[in-house]
Amino acid sequence: MKKLLEDMKERALKELDAVKGTQELRNFRVKLLGRKGELKAILTGMGRLSPEERPLVGQIANQVKVILEKAIDEREEFFRQKEEEERLALERVDITLPGRGPELGGVHPLTRVLREIEEVFISMGFQVAQGPEIEMDYYNFEALNIPSHHPARDMQDTFYVSGGILLRTHTSPVQIRVMEKVRPPIRVISPGKVYRRDADVSHTPMFHQVEGLLVDEITTFGDLKGVLEEFALRVFGPRTLVRFRPSYFPFTEPSAEMDIGCVICGGKGCRVCKGSGWLEILGCGMVDPAVFSFVDYDSQRYRGFAFGLGVERITMLKYGIDDIRLFYENDLRFLRQFM
Ligand code: DAH
Repeated sequence: MKKLLEDMKERALKELDAVKGTQELRNFRVKLLGRKGELKAILTGMGRLSPEERPLVGQIANQVKVILEKAIDEREEFFRQKEEEERLALERVDITLPGRGPELGGVHPLTRVLREIEEVFISMGFQVAQGPEIEMDYYNFEALNIPSHHPARDMQDTFYVSGGILLRTHTSPVQIRVMEKVRPPIRVISPGKVYRRDADVSHTPMFHQVEGLLVDEITTFGDLKGVLEEFALRVFGPRTLVRFRPSYFPFTEPSAEMDIGCVICGGKGCRVCKGSGWLEILGCGMVDPAVFSFVDYDSQRYRGFAFGLGVERITMLKYGIDDIRLFYENDLRFLRQFM
């Protein structure tokens, strides 16, 4: 019986070397040491031994069992480590692969030009003021000296919300709101969205304007020209030509429009400037005394100038964009050109 146990041990250790994986090892352990395993089978023969032999054989059987268990455990640990290594090798991140870069966004061309315009006026001492897009008739028209029979109030142009409430058609109402709150000297610009019932290649129902207002005791048309010419040269370049043409606005007197030499043809005449060599870029004028009276400013003491410009138009001229709708279509092929 001793011999039987020794043989079984030798054979088992040899077989163990040939075992190839965790699962196979598990089966091997059961076959050898399990409840119906080989060791148990041998030990059932113990009953036939003499009482003197029994403890000795029992001891040997125990040793064999311990040795085999230890050998199998070691083997198991070996497999476990090997499998772990294989798994880690498989899961390893290949850092030599080129990474997927994050998508870089950019500033919208309108935002970019608006910021540029703001910076020019801020550098000349203007502050930025804001007003509501949903506006009262009084601020959008009445206090700007646009009485109820004026064509600018036509349903064609204005989005009405309800009686006396509308979407502002220009940023000029902010002039009134500012003057109601503070006394001169005033130097403000007011950028923002405005709304008109209009849509084609150069009009969208919503667009952006920048309003300007300066009020002080000694303010002349010469100041207006100096400030606006400086603005044109800073935004369109130092060689830009500028001219002022007489015009009409209800809230300024006298009124003018400022043109710049055509940035497309250099003044020779082209499709964009309609052969004239000039492009209109803003409206302006000296604040009408009638407007001052709406905000209780003494028009004998104070004078001011105002101007209003369209951000889309300035941006289109600056970059040679021929369709205003491109600004609102979010086509990345268009937007990427301004990164
Ligand atoms: N509010 C005018 C418009 O939307 C633009 C404008 C013209 C504003 C002359 C002014 C100004 O402040 O003096 O057409």
